[in-house]
Amino acid sequence: METSSPQTTGQKVFLETFGCQSNALESGHVASLLLKDHFSLAPRAEEADVILFNTCSIRQHAEDKVFSRLGQLADWKRDKEGRVIGVLGCMATSYKDQLMERAPHLDMVVGPDQYLKVPEVIRQASRTGQSQVLADFDPVYFPENDPNRLSQPHKAFIEIMKGCDKFCTFCVVPFTRGREVSRPAESVLEEVNRLAQAGVKEVMLLGQNVNSYGLPSFPVRKFNNGQLGEPSSPIPMDKETGLGLKSRGGTLPFPQLLREVGQVPGIGRVRFMTSHPLDLSDELVEVMAEMPTVCQSIHLPVQCGSDRVLKRMGRKYDVAHYLGRVRKLRSAMRDLFITTDLIVGFPGEAEEDFQGTLDLLEEVRYDAVYSFKFSPRLGTPAARMLNRVPEEVQDQRLARLNEKAWNHASESCQARLGLVEEVLVDGPADKTPGAFYGKSRQNRTVVFPGTGYRAGDLVKVKVESHKVANLYGTVLKTNCEL
Ligand code: SAH
Ligand code: SF4
Ligand code: F3S
Repeated sequence: METSSPQTTGQKVFLETFGCQSNALESGHVASLLLKDHFSLAPRAEEADVILFNTCSIRQHAEDKVFSRLGQLADWKRDKEGRVIGVLGCMATSYKDQLMERAPHLDMVVGPDQYLKVPEVIRQASRTGQSQVLADFDPVYFPENDPNRLSQPHKAFIEIMKGCDKFCTFCVVPFTRGREVSRPAESVLEEVNRLAQAGVKEVMLLGQNVNSYGLPSFPVRKFNNGQLGEPSSPIPMDKETGLGLKSRGGTLPFPQLLREVGQVPGIGRVRFMTSHPLDLSDELVEVMAEMPTVCQSIHLPVQCGSDRVLKRMGRKYDVAHYLGRVRKLRSAMRDLFITTDLIVGFPGEAEEDFQGTLDLLEEVRYDAVYSFKFSPRLGTPAARMLNRVPEEVQDQRLARLNEKAWNHASESCQARLGLVEEVLVDGPADKTPGAFYGKSRQNRTVVFPGTGYRAGDLVKVKVESHKVANLYGTVLKTNCEL
């Protein structure tokens, strides 16, 4: 790759992330590409020559924030020659050049599969004022961590697959991220080994549906119907069979990949997300229960507790299947930490459907719940459904749901009182002077008083209280081994 020219050496880039863990991982990747190319990173927008937003399209609110930030930057851009503004991430693939129309002072729009070009695109924009839109998908490209430039020294996200073929009717991801592609296992294991040698102790394997990692493809042609975000490059697809090229060979079933990652020397904790309930196999449950390095925590989005609504969401399972999977998990792991995502106010959701969601919460008693009001996404089938739930009904349902979920989360914290948690230290606690924080094996935040701890230290903490979803306690033992 070309090194930076004298005009641009030392340009400072402010990179702000709005999206999910995949976006956060990719921001780290972009940051390390920029540093390698002689850019530096600015901690605040005010100090920057280049402002990049790594964006999310999942809900309207996420996009509104970015449009408003872009609007505020028109004067900033005019104030000094050579300044550059860029949009990365999912809004780049969902809007492409339409973004330039909405924000004419924007210089670059770069989608998630084109990040290797970011340094060069910035240089060109800064030198010539030329704007560029690069939003094609590339099934071969996967972002990898640079072990020398990790944002945290002790843990890392690893992308094992990308895209999504599930096409839930409310969701924009299949359009912003393209067809599902699994990364070859060898490449995943190489990255994990490299990171472990650099001192990483915990890895989170990431994908929209990790449970379908390496599974055979299914036909995708019927979805290629010109909806929003249809890739401008051809969808990776086998021309003869019409099958999406989910796996380019060299993959394993997900439980086996998990087992292999869990055996990499030096890796003491393995996590994964997101699990789709449809593909959650008994083998996965066995690996979670058996492998001491695989953390016994699972994010298992249910979205709704009504079969009628689940069907219209296109989730491809019913409540009985979901509860069956939860029972299987719980019977294999006594101490399982289980979290979910829920959407309230999906079009046509009646009070009795919502009651089904409350009943499901009562049955599962999640350790944590992430709840969202339905947000219509342009180009998705649900956005065209007519029977929208009024805003105030959505608000009331969200409040009722959150109250119940909150009580369960609080009970789940109380159940930890008096127990000893193994905590991997992240650093000093921002809000509690003289204290540090880290994560338990279940991924709960644990805060404890102390001095001199470093990120990556492992300590045992006796839990004495909890506030919101955080546990508080005192250290019983330091310098533990994973
Ligand atoms: N692949 C994951 C979810 C990724 S998106 C899965 O299938 O579970 C994260 C969450 O955002 C979803 O679980 C869903 O709860 C929420 N979400 C997605 N689209 C949404 C929309 N249009 N409106 C509201 N919430 C949405
Ligand atoms: Fe979206 Fe459904 Fe795919 Fe999850 S499984 S990313 S909700 S389409
Ligand atoms: Fe993630 Fe948002 Fe894209 S959730 S995949 S950044 S739409």
